[in-house]
Amino acid sequence: MTKLLVITAHPAPVEYSKSQRVAEKFVDTYVAQNPNTEVTKINLYDLDAPDVDRVVYSAFGHLMNGGSFETLTTEQQQALGKRQEVITQFMEHDRYVFVSPMWEFSFPAVLKKYLDIVCAARQTFQYNELGMPVGLLTGKKAIYIQASGGNHTKDFIVNRRPLVAQHENATVLLPTFDTFGNYGEPIVRATLAIMGVLDYQHIMVHSQSMPHAAEDSLNASLQQAEQAASQW
Ligand SMILES: Cc1cc2nc3c(=O)[nH]c(=O)nc-3n(C[C@H](O)[C@H](O)[C@H](O)COP(=O)(O)O)c2cc1C
Repeated sequence: MTKLLVITAHPAPVEYSKSQRVAEKFVDTYVAQNPNTEVTKINLYDLDAPDVDRVVYSAFGHLMNGGSFETLTTEQQQALGKRQEVITQFMEHDRYVFVSPMWEFSFPAVLKKYLDIVCAARQTFQYNELGMPVGLLTGKKAIYIQASGGNHTKDFIVNRRPLVAQHENATVLLPTFDTFGNYGEPIVRATLAIMGVLDYQHIMVHSQSMPHAAEDSLNASLQQAEQAASQW
């Protein structure tokens, strides 16, 4: 049996969300072709686990200084316990479907919070003798389905790069330009890679605020999702 975790970072229901519509197509197609799949769906707006806030940060400090879990306060133990449930659930699944809108060239903050929780030293990755992170998850696959109002595809950016290159401040602008079209996606990709999830795909449901392009782009993404799910 394959355990599939659908991780949605969206505050609205699917009727109002293109990223979720495409994700639904992906998951339905995959499950139809792989009936031996157990699907768990979580919405990160319901996540009941704290950030690295004052309680968690002080608990980390206590443990790093050699203190035991038992000598943490009840509040610290509960906070770490909730974070651990999230990490354990993530590790127990084989495949991940991340779903979010593009917000401010990136994604909603709840997704960063989730990635920060599951990217846990000594559980999902560890440092090697060179001080480099090595993923501890093996055999996992992930896809990130993201919708945007504008066109933030690689092609769009690449086609406009020569224009930016002509600008008098090109040396300063270009490195930023190369990532600012969508600086959220590289974060998802890199965090997964750090944990060892290297089989990764991204579907960009772009141009959803552009009336002349939205429908074609959505249909293309639905097709892409169907095809990707069939080959996953
Ligand atoms: C708070 C907010 C920020 C947004 N920021 C961007 C952005 O930076 N770039 C963009 O192309 N679209 C942006 N949009 C538009 C959404 O990405 C677009 O509506 C997309 O379809 C959202 O995904 P959804 O259809 O799954 O809801 C933003 C929308 C909201 C509400």
